[in-house]
Amino acid sequence: MITKIKKILQKKNKSKIISLTAYSKNIAKILDNYCDIILVGDSMANVLYAQKNTHRISLKKIIEHSASVRQGVKRSLLVVDMPKGTYENVRTAEKNARLVIKSTSCDAIKLESNKKNYKIIKALVEKNIPIMGHIGFTPQFKKKFKVEGQTKSQIKKLYKEAQLIENAGAFAIVLECLSPNAAKVITKNLKIPTIGIGSSDNCDGQILVTDDMLGLSGFYPKFVKKYARLDRIIEKAVKEYSKDVKFGKFPSPKNYLNGSKRK
Ligand code: KIV
Repeated sequence: MITKIKKILQKKNKSKIISLTAYSKNIAKILDNYCDIILVGDSMANVLYAQKNTHRISLKKIIEHSASVRQGVKRSLLVVDMPKGTYENVRTAEKNARLVIKSTSCDAIKLESNKKNYKIIKALVEKNIPIMGHIGFTPQFKKKFKVEGQTKSQIKKLYKEAQLIENAGAFAIVLECLSPNAAKVITKNLKIPTIGIGSSDNCDGQILVTDDMLGLSGFYPKFVKKYARLDRIIEKAVKEYSKDVKFGKFPSPKNYLNGSKRK
């Protein structure tokens, strides 16, 4: 097991695991000093490519963005999401996961659970491909964005699903949009760390989509805390630039490459 994964496992019940998403080098470089895990999420389908769901993002796109992110990540664990339709059986899953690892030098792969693909996780782990699971609201397989695990029987089912993923050999698991009680039961009873999104503080770590928490995506459900309004900051800068160009204030002589004055 690689050292970075060992360190993440050691954090369980000791200190929180900090994770964010990235789709490009420049952002990844900033996150790298503060995150344990950086995920190249298939959420890029919605966030970058304005698609209505994550179903059509290609493996090629995920690989291109991950290769860019790799350039900015030195210390965090780099995890790459496998897009829908690329891990439907053991053979395809292994072929595609190996392609992702070879092309991006990422450290691990994330697969969403469809309550049936435990054997695929097990097979990949046995072939030394580190896997992160993902349960709850799994956008590749579910249409409705809703809180899961609101009744005892739902919590039991989610816990069973998480257990099967742990038994298959995953090193961590994302809990997306789970009730606080469901997150608590799963986190308390699993040996592997849980990384929550919209699943309360009852998790071993947290992840957010970076564009959401920076106020860039326009998608702000209640579980997203907006730590910045980059949309406003960018708009202010662009407005100022546009005015400067219009009124001849930019470029000024100090921006001239040879330093000479405008004649
Ligand atoms: O695609 C993604 O960004 C994700 C996170 C929301 C966990 O899967």
